[in-house]
Amino acid sequence: MNIKMNKIILGCFLASLFFACNSEPEREVKKVVKTVKVVSDNAPNKDSELSLLMRQLYLDADSIKQLILTKKGTVSDAFITELETVHTAKPTDPAVKTAEFNAFNKLLVNQAKAIQQNSENQTEEFNRLVNRCMDCHQSFCPGPIKRIKKLRITP
Ligand code: HEC
Repeated sequence: MNIKMNKIILGCFLASLFFACNSEPEREVKKVVKTVKVVSDNAPNKDSELSLLMRQLYLDADSIKQLILTKKGTVSDAFITELETVHTAKPTDPAVKTAEFNAFNKLLVNQAKAIQQNSENQTEEFNRLVNRCMDCHQSFCPGPIKRIKKLRITP
């Protein structure tokens, strides 16, 4: 493991600590709106464009989950546009912006589109989206994986 990689992992780890501290599992059961406030109030000092975007994506994915659970809606075009900005957002460490990173992001965008197109299997398609988040995180930022996993819709 080279120094750059260590830096990324440390960054992710610190980010995930903050992130983890801000929304305890108990709180998470409550309304999404509550989590939104808690998370944004206590942001870490050093916030890259990408980490801010990621925090927003987490909240938006959680809102989409609620929409699907209550059968009130699905992925919006705005969410897809937001996912596309992951390509250009500045990360904590520029070393993460590799071809592999972009490929992972493309898969995420495609999966978001699949949710829109498959109205029959919203839950399944949504859980696939969460898997696409985790695929990239396994390679680039393992810290928040545990949190991301919680986005999954379980029976
Ligand atoms: C293409 C790769 C990739 C994909 C796909 C991806 N992430 Fe990330 N994510 C990252 C990287 C890299 C960071 C670290 C950002 C930084 O430090 O600049 C990160 C950081 C985060 C963080 C921590 C932010 C913080 O600083 O508190 C959360 C939460 C997160 N991602 C959630 C998600 C969710 C939810 C999805 C799916 C909707 C997702 N990610 C998809 C690469 C990705």
